Amino acid sequence: MRHLISPLDFSVEELDKLINLAYDIKDNPAKYAHTCDGRILATCFYEPSTRTRLSFESAMLRLGGKTLGFASADSSSAAKGESVSDTISVISGYADICAMRHPKEGAPLVASIHSTIPVINAGDGGHQHPTQTLTDLLTIHSLNGEIKNLTIGLCGDLKFGRTVHSLITALVRYENIKFILISPEELKVPSYIRQLLIDKNIPFEEVVTLDDSMSKLDILYMTRVQRERFFNEEDYLRMKDFYILDKAKMALAKENMLVLHPLPRVNEISVEVDNDPRAAYFKQAKFGVYIRMALILTLLEIEV
Ligand code: CP
Repeated sequence: MRHLISPLDFSVEELDKLINLAYDIKDNPAKYAHTCDGRILATCFYEPSTRTRLSFESAMLRLGGKTLGFASADSSSAAKGESVSDTISVISGYADICAMRHPKEGAPLVASIHSTIPVINAGDGGHQHPTQTLTDLLTIHSLNGEIKNLTIGLCGDLKFGRTVHSLITALVRYENIKFILISPEELKVPSYIRQLLIDKNIPFEEVVTLDDSMSKLDILYMTRVQRERFFNEEDYLRMKDFYILDKAKMALAKENMLVLHPLPRVNEISVEVDNDPRAAYFKQAKFGVYIRMALILTLLEIEV
């Protein structure tokens, strides 16, 4: 039995297979419409979510399966003090696969140790978000044609942004990827991510200004400042509008640069950018369904 806890749980070859499966699902939905008949996905979300939880549910429903779960810690017995390990021991008897989001780093890993069904990390604190990374890889592959020879700018809250940590962790295994890490001093990537880049000899620079980097980028990955991870509101308010991508900034970029964002956005991308053909974040959210369908089939070992 396999779980998905870290983006490194799948090799590049396995990711290629997953991406190809996602394409086939997208092109031939009827072929997959009953592949999960009789199977149940549990979504155990101890933290708010729109895309991840609903795209997982949409994925399972589109495969013919059913879903159950909870959308907040308050509406589960966590509110009465139940541990993650006890909860997953119980859920293992109710469902065939579980997607779990939790504010504590490592909680889905703990769940996987106590589970008898596959556990998917749907985001653990400020740590990792591997299924967002699968979504991002499919988006890059689909819109760029390949995942190599890219200069990728990651901009915003690189300290607490788990999607950034997972994406960098996955991308260091691809050919000729360079990173420009754009953040305020206080929100730079954690040292373990910086060390990973150094250890793998991946070219990267850390800068504060977005404008100076725009013309170099093939992909700009914007992120929101993660209010829920800040220790005080004052710091959040000081940081929240540090970067705002608008038409004037987009004018500095390559004609074929892609703008990605895991969403939700707050102010960091002006709505005036939404109609720019380079704005790919809503397409990205849709790709999340296909790749999660591919992931469910793969973890349940269902061959089509
Ligand atoms: N991208 C993402 O994780 O969005 P949600 O928080 O809405 O699931």
